[in-house]
Amino acid sequence: MPLVDTVTMMTAVRARGGCVGAFNVVDFLSIEAVVAASERSGCPAIIQASSGTLKAFGVPCLTKMVKLAAERSTHPLALHLDHGTDPNIIREAVRCGFNSVMIDASSFPIDENVRRTKEIVDYAHDYGVTVEGEIGVVAGVEDDVVVNEDAAIYTTPAEALDFLARTGVDFLAAAIGTAHGFYKSKPRLNIQTLRDLYARTSCPLVVHGGTGLDRDTVAELVRAGASKFNVSTQIKIDYIDSLYKYIDEHRTEYNILKVLARAKSDLVDMLADYMTLLSKGE
Ligand code: 13P
Repeated sequence: MPLVDTVTMMTAVRARGGCVGAFNVVDFLSIEAVVAASERSGCPAIIQASSGTLKAFGVPCLTKMVKLAAERSTHPLALHLDHGTDPNIIREAVRCGFNSVMIDASSFPIDENVRRTKEIVDYAHDYGVTVEGEIGVVAGVEDDVVVNEDAAIYTTPAEALDFLARTGVDFLAAAIGTAHGFYKSKPRLNIQTLRDLYARTSCPLVVHGGTGLDRDTVAELVRAGASKFNVSTQIKIDYIDSLYKYIDEHRTEYNILKVLARAKSDLVDMLADYMTLLSKGE
């Protein structure tokens, strides 16, 4: 089916008490893995690309790859730009047919974050494309965005609501202590901020840094009101580990399609598991 609006999808899933998984893809195999996992689990999903992936393929090519893969799906899928920092790439994604884009200006002082975010909101809305903004700072490494764990900043509900009112973003990543990449120690999450925000706004809320959070924590975040849950690092780890394992166990296998099929199958297992957990919050 054709791609759908990200916010409409999240709102429908949230109304049933669930959350949508947003998965960072790196090539056609990982895009197809998300589509296959959505078919297996029966869940809608967000396919998201970071600036690095867009630079590798070019925005028009990546958009066509996702649309092609989605043609075979029977569940709603949306295409989203993750952590856009370059306004030119964000604008290109908007024009090329992304359903939504993220503008991450969270490294700037708040007034500058608001100014940059609002500029993208105004541009994207003219094309009917929805926008995710970020307030506070999510630690860790996501592509071009590198933030020390010490530099992470927790958002307060008041700051987040003010940011929403001033920017008009359609969905919001509020920093609650999650981080990109694996956690070096148990994360100190402020899930209460998510609950408070969920009680005070209908704006869908995004949890970044999904990799490494245990199942109970994921379920608690869904119950607390998360609408979108991002997973990136786990995809890269499983993809590479699966390739290594298969090649190690089949040193004389030179049928590349067989090697890739194993990686895809392992990715589908992991992604479908996330989708099921997120859709129920239990
Ligand atoms: P992880 O790399 O920790 O899964 O975080 C993904 C993310 O938040 C992408 O924006």
